[in-house]
Amino acid sequence: MSAKTASKKPGSKGASSEAALDIGINDEERARIVEGLSRLLADTYTLYLKTHNFHWNVKGPMFNTLHLMFETQYNELALAVDLIAERIRALGYPAPGTYSEFARLTCIPEPEGVPHAEEMIVQLVEGQEAVVRTARNLFPVVDAARDEPSADLLTQRMQVHEKTAWMLRSLLES
Ligand SMILES: [Fe+2]
Repeated sequence: MSAKTASKKPGSKGASSEAALDIGINDEERARIVEGLSRLLADTYTLYLKTHNFHWNVKGPMFNTLHLMFETQYNELALAVDLIAERIRALGYPAPGTYSEFARLTCIPEPEGVPHAEEMIVQLVEGQEAVVRTARNLFPVVDAARDEPSADLLTQRMQVHEKTAWMLRSLLES
């Protein structure tokens, strides 16, 4: 693959960036799906990094609970990014994989400094919900294109993030 084809963006003219691919989804729909999956990948990776950061830096009386809970979450996110990136590859496009691309594509802000433990939980709830919204916004596009594998992936990711958001949110309730 040449550097020229590798750098092609989803949605650019002549959508397919590699060898001809005919899986029953037209080029325009495939480009739109990849655009959305790239945002989902960027959100998931950014949330992964934030969760790992908080695993390292959490302090206070809830240290043990949060340190371990964040570890479970970042491990799950690390596996999820692989599934999302490889779905993008199966759709015929390069997967974004640099910090600058992720920063451009994600809607999840970086934390400023080291937040208090409770603020970490708030930020992770917001992050989990943001990923759910990104996945849900893409769902009608994959549904219309009859892209069942992407629909299945989105459904699984929404399920995990909604459940994790509930678990984190529960820590804030009395
Ligand atoms: Fe650790």
